[in-house]
Amino acid sequence: MCGIVGYAGTSSRSAEHGALDVLIEGLRRLEYRGYDSAGVAVVADGAIHSRKKAGKLVNLENQIAEAPLPDSLTGIGHTRWATHGGPSDQNAHPHLADGGKLAMIHNGIIENFAEIKATLVAEGVEFLSDTDTEVAAALLGKMYSSEAEGDLTRAMQLAVNKLEGAFTLLAVHQDHPGVVVAARRNSPLVLGLGEGENFLGSDVSGFIDFTRRAVELGQDQIVTITPESHSIIGFDGEPAEGREFSVDWDAASAEKGGFPSFMEKEIHDQPAAVADTLLGRSDAEGKLTLDELRIDPEKLAKITKIVVLACGTSAYAGSVAKYAIESWCRIPVEVELSHEFRYREPIVDKNTLIVSISQSGETMDTLMAVRYAKEQGAKTLSICNTNGSTIPRESDAVLYTHAGPEIAVASTKAFLAQITATYLLGLYLAQLRGNLFSGQIKDILADLGKIPSKIQDILDRDNEIKDLARSMADASSVLFLGRHVGYPVAMEGALKLKEIAYIHAEGFAAGELKHGPIALIDDGQPVFVVVPSPRGRDSLHSKVVSNIQEVRARGANTLVIAEEGDVDVREYAEFVFYVPETPTLLMPLLATVPLQIFACELATAKGYDVDQPRNLAKSVTVE
Ligand code: AGP
Repeated sequence: MCGIVGYAGTSSRSAEHGALDVLIEGLRRLEYRGYDSAGVAVVADGAIHSRKKAGKLVNLENQIAEAPLPDSLTGIGHTRWATHGGPSDQNAHPHLADGGKLAMIHNGIIENFAEIKATLVAEGVEFLSDTDTEVAAALLGKMYSSEAEGDLTRAMQLAVNKLEGAFTLLAVHQDHPGVVVAARRNSPLVLGLGEGENFLGSDVSGFIDFTRRAVELGQDQIVTITPESHSIIGFDGEPAEGREFSVDWDAASAEKGGFPSFMEKEIHDQPAAVADTLLGRSDAEGKLTLDELRIDPEKLAKITKIVVLACGTSAYAGSVAKYAIESWCRIPVEVELSHEFRYREPIVDKNTLIVSISQSGETMDTLMAVRYAKEQGAKTLSICNTNGSTIPRESDAVLYTHAGPEIAVASTKAFLAQITATYLLGLYLAQLRGNLFSGQIKDILADLGKIPSKIQDILDRDNEIKDLARSMADASSVLFLGRHVGYPVAMEGALKLKEIAYIHAEGFAAGELKHGPIALIDDGQPVFVVVPSPRGRDSLHSKVVSNIQEVRARGANTLVIAEEGDVDVREYAEFVFYVPETPTLLMPLLATVPLQIFACELATAKGYDVDQPRNLAKSVTVE
């Protein structure tokens, strides 16, 4: 998804860095969002100077090396993920308007751009790209030179009131050196406050190298920054305020930490991600104190149904949550993909608790589903990893995961942190409703507390699974089977492999095999099987062992994830990776890890960029 950076600085700071340095550094930090082109515009010598190029940031840097930009203290920078118009130099941002005096960048989709474009074309405006952004830029230019009489903030206000859809817009104008004006609706934007310089970013990564003071902007707000000031108004022109917070992610934690990729680093961050998510949420007696929940406990105790809304990996975290919450709280839990939920007239009411799960907090499908549920009167709770993002802000309550910034497009540590947070929520509800005795909750929390060191144990043996992955670099299809909580783990294992290794992979409920998927099994077909604990539910283990035998009898190459001490599976498996013992419901926090390592290593062996897989964006902020 597009990355956005804005900067206004003073000459006292320019000795340290000019606008271009800040913009390029910010765009580099935002690369994780996924993009197909990049561009910058700076204001200098009474003019706008812009460079933009399809492809990676290095292409833009090469272009600037060939045609240097003048020194400047004001500018905007953009990484584009194509929506309207393919990835090309021409469609890359910034887009110019008002005879080249104004430059604009944009994240989101302007739904009524065709209509506005037709009017502007009829008035003689010419367009150079296929983008909706150029239309917004032209509209801003028109407002600036007509009704706003040269006031850039006023022009932005007039323009955004004519736009429909989701957008973050940033603009600079040659008549206003030292000023960047930005607006947001349904799309992320954060302000960074410096000394004699101010910043704008899609998220704090855009300026994390320069300041830790940030301001979260509200929906439908316009912010104008200069080196010394910032002012916020609503789309209605009324003064407004953002919420200041300090960024506790340091720049180093957003680096790779010595690993070859962010993904590998993030896989290794998982003991801390789980531990940090558990931190401070229960007392010594095992009583959960989720203060940030902000929903009246009496109302929470009365809910009759939970609906989990999420997409992709986050939805698999929701599927794990279903098993745990239903078991602990005896409340029915439905798990639904956000984009399916919203368009099928779902039945929710004031006794329904909507639990949205999102790493970014900006996934448009989930945001829209949450809004819809709210309109129906449901209570909304967000499980989210990104402080200040839109979904938690618009929800009645929030339970933040503390995984830290997740840079790799393929989610790993956020997944484990999400599962951990759903366990906390389930135990809290069980405590409120009296479904579990306090001693039981305490025991489960104690088991959860042991998970980080158990993940570390798996990571310390990662070579076992890496060797397997390298030996399978030529595989063209891998299947994943699991039952009970092993089923979403299988789905997640398959998704990881698809996303970063571009290998056909599918996850199945093992019990479904005989109803169709077993026809896929052929000589040598690799099949991962997530085997439940032999100490768990009576028949679950033996049923899965039978499934292994069924696929093996048809020629499958069986690769098993089993619990330490499960010697029975050995004779049916070509390969076994053991994970430490843990109660069945908590097993996904361990069994997922070897599958993440497998996908990461196999994709690396194939020479792929595991952090930025093709066609994917980290945060999907369009529907
Ligand atoms: C995970 O590896 C994917 N990149 C993707 O499925 C992701 O989980 C999904 O888009 C949801 O994102 P969110 O958690 O930020 O809402």
